[in-house]
Amino acid sequence: MSSSAVSSLRGKWALVTGSSRGIGQQIALGLAEFDCNIVVHGRTKRNTARTRRLLADFDVGSVVVAGDLGTAAGVRSVLRAVAALPEPVDILYNNAGVQNAWRPLWEIDRSTWQSTFDVNLFAVIELTNVLAPGMLASGMPMELVERPHPDWTLARLIQGFYGTPLDTGFLEAAKGLDRLGAEWRRAMEARLASATVERWQGRLYGPL
Ligand SMILES: NC(=O)c1ccc[n+]([C@@H]2O[C@H](COP(=O)([O-])OP(=O)(O)OC[C@H]3O[C@@H](n4cnc5c(N)ncnc54)[C@H](OP(=O)(O)O)[C@@H]3O)[C@@H](O)[C@H]2O)c1
Repeated sequence: MSSSAVSSLRGKWALVTGSSRGIGQQIALGLAEFDCNIVVHGRTKRNTARTRRLLADFDVGSVVVAGDLGTAAGVRSVLRAVAALPEPVDILYNNAGVQNAWRPLWEIDRSTWQSTFDVNLFAVIELTNVLAPGMLASGMPMELVERPHPDWTLARLIQGFYGTPLDTGFLEAAKGLDRLGAEWRRAMEARLASATVERWQGRLYGPL
């Protein structure tokens, strides 16, 4: 590993999902070699104990978060535990995964695909969405740059559009807003012209 990569790991905190054993455990130990602190993860705290013992050979910090990434509640509990850590996580290593589908494609039932994708894809998306550095993070300062229509709050627009969809006074006034999205303007004009609300089945159930 290059010297800049080594120094960029020093003192950082890495959450390695599925580091209780297998490849994830080796990844955790590999990062620890470069002085990276480790958030060890597995489904249970008991599973993670061996990785923590192995990490004790390195001069790094380690903590454990536990949670089943195959369930929404488990993902949430991992995120809550990470949020409660004294240091923020700098590196997210999405390693945890399952390979449930060992049979021919046509013999694999839906629940097997679902449980595989829950861990291998959806948990990765959710963890990444929350933990990866993005344009916004908690604690960032907010600055009001422009508010061209202070009377037209989002709450008022949403209430009018969905709550009183055929209120002509609302529709006439709202469709004239220069910042209104084109789809909403078209829907408002169509409502005014037809005095009916457009069909929503396509949005709920797909194209009819
Ligand atoms: N081994 C290979 O040849 C190979 C090849 C290609 C890709 N991969 C991929 O590499 C990754 C690691 O493989 P591995 O062989 O090291 O796997 P492994 O030995 O079976 O370890 C899997 C790790 O993921 C965790 N995990 C499994 N299901 C979980 C769940 N529902 N919620 C939270 N954690 C869960 C396990 O935690 P617990 O201790 O709590 O069970 C464990 O730490 C996987 O994504 C795998 O698909 C492996």
